[in-house]
Amino acid sequence: MASLTIRKLDEALKQQLRLRAAANGRSVEDEVRTILRASATVEPTQGIASRSLDADPARDRETRPKRVLLIIGGGIAAYKSLDLIRRLRERGYDTRVVMTKAAQQFVTPLSVGAVAGEHAHLDLFDPATEFDVGHIRLARDCDLIVVAPATADLMAKLAQGHADDLATAVLLATDRPILLAPAMNPLMWANAATRRNVAQLRADGIALIGPNAGEMAEAREAGIGRMAEPLEIVAAVTTRLTPRAQPLTGTHVIVTSGPTHEPIDPVRYIANRSSGKQGHAIAAAAAQAGAKVTLISGPVTIPDPPHMTIIRVESAREMRDAVERALPADVAIFAAAVADWRVASAGVQKIKKGIAGAPQLALVENPDILATVAQRINGRPQLVIGFAAETENVVANAQAKLARKHCDWIVANDVSAESGVMGGDSNTVHVVTNDAVDSWPPASKDEVARRLIARIADALAAQEE
Ligand code: C5P
Repeated sequence: MASLTIRKLDEALKQQLRLRAAANGRSVEDEVRTILRASATVEPTQGIASRSLDADPARDRETRPKRVLLIIGGGIAAYKSLDLIRRLRERGYDTRVVMTKAAQQFVTPLSVGAVAGEHAHLDLFDPATEFDVGHIRLARDCDLIVVAPATADLMAKLAQGHADDLATAVLLATDRPILLAPAMNPLMWANAATRRNVAQLRADGIALIGPNAGEMAEAREAGIGRMAEPLEIVAAVTTRLTPRAQPLTGTHVIVTSGPTHEPIDPVRYIANRSSGKQGHAIAAAAAQAGAKVTLISGPVTIPDPPHMTIIRVESAREMRDAVERALPADVAIFAAAVADWRVASAGVQKIKKGIAGAPQLALVENPDILATVAQRINGRPQLVIGFAAETENVVANAQAKLARKHCDWIVANDVSAESGVMGGDSNTVHVVTNDAVDSWPPASKDEVARRLIARIADALAAQEE
């Protein structure tokens, strides 16, 4: 079979091909393949019709095999990337590979090319690669970018938006989801700079898998820093590339989260230990399920979840006003730990220590946002869900709260000091409704959020029937 060298075509034709490829979201190589394929299948009498001109990139993306761009960073864990490529291809993913310079110290482009079935892309300034594919095409002509191993250096560059080699230029130019599999020495992973970069990357909507705890490749080193195993990475790829139902598409969900700060004077306030992790996870799960989400958050230190409107407030009264402004909504979930009381007349100036001794703070009750929304005559969301943070008689107190506040469900959790729920990453909840108590097994706050959102979607669907 003859081979075709695109570079040898005349300039005008090359230019036309470039434009067509760009318009169809393909590499020039792929565009030529598409044209040839289309022409070869046209009846001879039809001539070379303009069928391929009508190519629909979105339809194309739905029907063709999913395409993964693997970026191999320069760490010892790069040796696992050959297995990763093999596993991805076994599962039918078209796998293209970019290697950083440092990665080539650990695995050779030749072995990567042999396993991937096409040559690895190495250099931003390689004219052949830039013409045939180019970093912009590499960045866009895929469904997911996986960086494995994601080294501390590569993550720092990504967090900062550097683009001084092919890997970083692709990562900066992409509009596709990115999954990082970090791998580094445990001290590097624990370093404050890496912590900052990870928080920034998460806030930018970039997903991470691992690192795992265990032995390092280097002798006598152990801790958190091992790259996730190839099979775990492939499972994460599959989760991301399998089209998920978005059962909350078309709905508006309001979520309150975090603590409130109730001022005593301009420098002091009453607060509580809520981290906002559960509320933020619920907002993220609702957005993933396709909902338009308004997250109204008290002061927290965790990153903002992506793809939603976030309104930051301090006090209960500010939170109430923000909720009122965000209505109407189909679902309202009140996960915030709102302070029950505020200081009746917060000092305008800092309260001074004086001879009169400690000040007596008079407290007044805060507005109950959940109860107010649940009892609205007009514009009540279809589902109003409260949380009950209890330290004893968890279910009984939740049932009493459900009746008192007129909401539809109460998600009750044990926040006693022994439970470790406040500020922790896991939760054990009971979903209390008028008819039943559903006790869920202990799970991560993310998992609790996903389950809750799935249950909400079921309830909305049942109401529609
Ligand atoms: O009464 P309690 O604070 O235990 O109720 C907890 C539930 O009520 C939570 O869903 C919380 O977000 C909500 N709440 C509220 N406004 C308040 C107090 C609690 O929305 N002022």
